[in-house]
Amino acid sequence: MNRPLVIGNWKMNLDYVEAVHLVQQLGVVLQNKPLEHVDVVVVPPFVDLRSVTSVVESERISLEVGAQHASAHDAGAHTGEVSVSMLQRLNVQWVLVGHSERRAMYAMTDDVVAHTLRAVVRAGLQAVLCVGEELSVREAGTPREFVTAQLHAALAGVEEKSRPLITIAYEPVWAIGTGLTASSEQVRDMTEHIRTVAASLSLENTRVLYGGSVNADNAAALLSEGRVDGFLVGGASLKADSFLAIAQAANDCYDGKR
Ligand code: PGA
Repeated sequence: MNRPLVIGNWKMNLDYVEAVHLVQQLGVVLQNKPLEHVDVVVVPPFVDLRSVTSVVESERISLEVGAQHASAHDAGAHTGEVSVSMLQRLNVQWVLVGHSERRAMYAMTDDVVAHTLRAVVRAGLQAVLCVGEELSVREAGTPREFVTAQLHAALAGVEEKSRPLITIAYEPVWAIGTGLTASSEQVRDMTEHIRTVAASLSLENTRVLYGGSVNADNAAALLSEGRVDGFLVGGASLKADSFLAIAQAANDCYDGKR
């Protein structure tokens, strides 16, 4: 098992005042009870990033900070977009790339995902490539083929030096925000498949996360039976206690298996 990674994707929730409050709450708990065996990342909306990174730095909280998206372009006439260099300047270390909500609602094609991923890793930031099938694809019995195509489109030809900067998150679209978690077996099957495809693209030892209605109650089973390296958490990351319970489960699972 790789060292686990637990990422909280706040989506379009929490203004900067609420964001600072949540990060301070996380900081108090993490300072009293450090989680030594897990990397924890929070991913606030763009407008919160400056405040969140300032609090994390000034209070020396053991959290890293990510962005939910970035432009594939370096600069220029791209109204509403944010460049990777702007994120870098804020000490953002992680960027989610190709979340299914960006793919479905903001026309993020495989091609745009591939260009964005390259922009992120070129700048030396960590990219979390999100993949996963819709319910209709699972019902048609072809989720592996679908995910394979997404992985090839995004990762084929990524430069060798950039490969360690990539994490893959398997997020079946039907499990996101629905309360319908994929079973441990479904997760294990797909993450094993993802590891095989990643290895065929020369990505060895890449961390593979699961996302989709993860909570404090299902995290431990998904880790041990689903054999994932951690989670991309949405709803349950908006409260300090539920998010930290998931991080704690990852910490304990790794500690027990080292
Ligand atoms: P959820 O979201 O945990 O609320 O299902 C996961 C995600 O979209 O990353």
